[in-house]
Amino acid sequence: MKTVIEPFRIKSVETIRMTTKEERIEALEKAHYNLFLVKGEDVLIDLLTDSGTGAMSSAQWAGIMIGDETYAGSKSFFNFQDTIKDIFRFEHILPTHQGRAAEKILFSVVGGEGKSIPNNTHFDTTRANIEASGAKAVDLVVPEGLKPMEVHPFKGNMDTKALENFMIETGAENIPLCMLTITNNSGGGQPVSMANVKEVKRICNKYDIPLYIDACRFAENAWFIKTREKGYENKTPLEITREFFSYADGCTMSAKKDALVNIGGFLCLNDGEIAQECKNLLILTEGFPTYGGLAGRDLEAIAIGLREVLEEDYLEYRIRSTAFLGEKIKKIGIPIIDPPGGHAVYIDAKALYPHIPPLEYPGQALACELYIEAGVRGVEIGSVMFGYIDKETGEEVPSKMELVRLAIPRRTYTQSQIEYVIEAIENVYKRRTEAKGLKMTYQASALRHFSAHFEPLK
Ligand code: F0G
Repeated sequence: MKTVIEPFRIKSVETIRMTTKEERIEALEKAHYNLFLVKGEDVLIDLLTDSGTGAMSSAQWAGIMIGDETYAGSKSFFNFQDTIKDIFRFEHILPTHQGRAAEKILFSVVGGEGKSIPNNTHFDTTRANIEASGAKAVDLVVPEGLKPMEVHPFKGNMDTKALENFMIETGAENIPLCMLTITNNSGGGQPVSMANVKEVKRICNKYDIPLYIDACRFAENAWFIKTREKGYENKTPLEITREFFSYADGCTMSAKKDALVNIGGFLCLNDGEIAQECKNLLILTEGFPTYGGLAGRDLEAIAIGLREVLEEDYLEYRIRSTAFLGEKIKKIGIPIIDPPGGHAVYIDAKALYPHIPPLEYPGQALACELYIEAGVRGVEIGSVMFGYIDKETGEEVPSKMELVRLAIPRRTYTQSQIEYVIEAIENVYKRRTEAKGLKMTYQASALRHFSAHFEPLK
């Protein structure tokens, strides 16, 4: 059989409120052309993020009911801790309310003025937390990772030559840790190979710098290794994950992705001293170490989700269904980051709308077009998200890429809903030469994409 079916059936449904084009135009105007400010009930297919938006399994819901809400030493915590230790093999496990809380704690301890942290590509919250500590966040992805249409199996890889040069120039004493984000979300949901993590670890060891993984989409990354990297065809996703993380000294995790839950995260470390400092901060900002920022029931659901996400049928369906969307829209003529990522398809808005300059936000224009056309909400990952005002010159600096991400919530939308998205994209493609850019009329000083206001240009 060629068709890869959803390896589940639906037990509980949530109604989608249908809207007209006129209603959507009004909603968008009210939201100042920022899709983060549009109400969820005004969206038909929500591809804004795959974070916390997936469906939990009946086993996870059952776990919610047996969650142990004991303040200290909850049974659910030990279940959570044992599961994480079994999969990732780290010493110290700190539960947090989501990924960025783990980042905030880690970088408050190891970051600070004069420090630099390299990564393939920092996600925006990681970068913001590093910078908030006074440290510098440096992206060193391989050159292929910055060329949307260049096909490469592991476009999320770290440029290891650049990494070593960076370490020599910066001085190991100024680099508290090196990171690898799997999959590389900001670079298109692209995977990192086992060969790459091994080489990164070798370089880190040479300069005595610990390696941390941003583990959000670790299971999707494992599936890419299994299907693309020689020698891993016959290994299970769990075996691949264990090997990958054996090269690391710690990780940050948003459980809202590959732990298949709606809220949660964790921080893992092997270094006992740093772990103790992190625990002290955890108590201050999140909660007692056996619940962190979570309820016992959340810990239980995460423990179950971490097992389910490594099931081969799930991963095959997951990666195949994202590729399905990517391949179909590529056939229409839409320029995408090729091959499609694990959790999302990224449209290259710069290539689709060559007539809209970066600082008129071609990605934002495309995201608005898709919403008006069909109530499909994607997210701009370009100059709105990563552009900034240079403090010295006062000029706005655009991002390297102008992308729109269509992130697929896990186990949530059916094939026909994805076909509807494809039809919407086709209609937007047909009128691509008429699309207009936008002007930003308001912006906050950090993470401006969440609250910016825009006006369409005439
Ligand atoms: N790291 C990566 C690679 C992420 O994609 C995210 C979140 C985080 C860290 C932070 O985790 O949201 O639980 O605090 N990404 C979401 C997204 C928001 O839409 O890609 P969080």
